[in-house]
Amino acid sequence: MGESTAANVTLNGNNGAVATVRSIPTADRLQRELGASSLSLSDMLEEVESALGKVEFPAPSGAERLAEAARYALLGGGKRVRPILVMACAQALGVPVDRVMQTACAIELIHTNSLIVDDLPAMDNHAKRRGRPTLHRLYGDDIAILAGCALLSEAQRLILEDQPGAAELRNRLLREVLEATGTAGMVGGQFLDVTKYRPSDRDDLERMQMLKTGSLILACVRCGTLLADNRTYRAFDRFAESLGSLFQVVDDILDETGKARWLGKIPGSDRRAGKLTHVTMFGLRTARERAKELHEDCLASLEEIASTVPGPVGPLREMADMVYRREK
Ligand code: IPE
Ligand code: IPE
Ligand code: MG
Ligand code: MG
Ligand code: MG
Repeated sequence: MGESTAANVTLNGNNGAVATVRSIPTADRLQRELGASSLSLSDMLEEVESALGKVEFPAPSGAERLAEAARYALLGGGKRVRPILVMACAQALGVPVDRVMQTACAIELIHTNSLIVDDLPAMDNHAKRRGRPTLHRLYGDDIAILAGCALLSEAQRLILEDQPGAAELRNRLLREVLEATGTAGMVGGQFLDVTKYRPSDRDDLERMQMLKTGSLILACVRCGTLLADNRTYRAFDRFAESLGSLFQVVDDILDETGKARWLGKIPGSDRRAGKLTHVTMFGLRTARERAKELHEDCLASLEEIASTVPGPVGPLREMADMVYRREK
């Protein structure tokens, strides 16, 4: 990912130098230099909240409520798993998180749109999200749909205009995100979900869940490594695939066992709607065993990653633990 000589080590993203360390480039020294400026998960959460707060939705006169609705959905206190994942992957490859912030925010906007749509009466018909009334309950279906569209447009603009880097890289990032969210990814998976597609077995269920949830998580990891190093990595992809599946198994478990107070959404909705999930297909115990296995798979991929990258992998490990043990 960079050039190294006995006199200096240059860590570069796609756009040239990020940090030049004047020393004999031992791996230990490099790790220490990166460690000094590396951010924890909670630092990253703070950074992304602040960046999301600055995202603007310019609205023509008379349409101010549209921008207000988009901001209500976006700034409603999600866990920010996806943008933090972009940042943590870039940091593991030695790139400061501020270099990837615009793409990280763009993905959170797209995710927020997916929640608005998922909650609509024609879809899962949820009344609560992130501990507050869903957007359509507060603003009406019409404004909720338009606010979701605004989030999608702004997300694409953030990558194309605000993300630093060569045009070719920005196109590649956008392609990655669009592929993950289109009919071959999230939207296709949501179609299978709402039309009550009946998976034939566990692999088929996980295929569907990978589409609706895992594909965007995979895109986060790929955007992080593309921004750092202009390439994707097999071990990072494997980590993302396990994390994506883990994320949805745990979501299914929480729908069965979670408490509304923590969850921020009303539990029991999958069973009531006759959805096929890990829990409704195989029972709670098997779902928990599967979550444990997937968590172990995440950690195994991270071991492999840790032996090859210059930056810290700790935040990615904490992320896998958080996704496994979360209560909301
Ligand atoms: C919920 O996503 C929807 C799924 C993909 C299962 P999150 O659990 O990440 O929701 P927020 O963003 O933290 O509210
Ligand atoms: C939603 O899955 C997946 C997407 C939003 C793409 P769920 O329907 O299980 O998510 P929750 O439980 O409502 O958050
Ligand atoms: Mg749903
Ligand atoms: Mg839902
Ligand atoms: Mg769910």
